[in-house]
Amino acid sequence: MAGKFISFEGPDGAGKTSVITAIQAELEQQLGKEKVMYTREPGGNHISEQIRRVLFDEHNTDMDGRTEALLFAAARRQHIVSEILPALKDGKVILCDRYVDSSIAYQGAGRHLGEQKIWQINQYAIDGLLPDLTIYLDIESKLGLQRIAEHRADQVNRLDEEQLSFHKTVREAFLRLQRENPERIKLIDASQSLPKVISDVKQTIHAKFNDLF
Ligand SMILES: Nc1ncnc2c1ncn2[C@@H]1O[C@H](COP(=O)(O)OP(=O)(O)OP(=O)(O)O)[C@@H](O)[C@H]1O
Ligand SMILES: [Mg+2]
Repeated sequence: MAGKFISFEGPDGAGKTSVITAIQAELEQQLGKEKVMYTREPGGNHISEQIRRVLFDEHNTDMDGRTEALLFAAARRQHIVSEILPALKDGKVILCDRYVDSSIAYQGAGRHLGEQKIWQINQYAIDGLLPDLTIYLDIESKLGLQRIAEHRADQVNRLDEEQLSFHKTVREAFLRLQRENPERIKLIDASQSLPKVISDVKQTIHAKFNDLF
């Protein structure tokens, strides 16, 4: 397939959305709007959107952890089929805000469902489709949560309300994933200023795809 699949990972408040917005604007200038796709799960398809509504419904605080993990995997599957695979076929650069590594870190480690178990159910969902490159924005948990509290107090959802210890566990899992997959997952120090983070990310993308940036 001709396209390029890049995922962005990292704890809450690491700066994924801010970085992707900047990267997307520059790539669109260089390649044309039709060659760049920003996406995030559940994506724009109605099936995954419906699953997402169940996941983030504030009435569903009693949701079982495995139910949550299976729903995330199901939404991911539909997002792949409806959006990612067609975009890859069209030769687009796909900028994906979170993907399978988030499930392993949040459900596997954070919710103690087991990183291996979460990987297994997600293997069924992704059917071998891993990103060509994963940008991991690493940030100390407290700083990430502080950024969210300062700038986005209105957007706190059920997952954001978890304890600091939960976020530390999640970060440790991301760091482990990066160490185990150093070819695919590249670590960026996200505690730096936003312009510096963006510049590091561009360099990392260029190192992988010489024709970008
Ligand atoms: N390098 C940075 N330095 C300072 N503030 C930043 C930096 N990057 C992002 N921010 C700010 O921190 C907040 C969180 O950033 P952003 O929404 O991009 O993070 P995120 O990783 O997408 O978070 P989430 O996982 O919750 O979606 C925003 O208000 C953003 O303006
Ligand atoms: Mg975001």
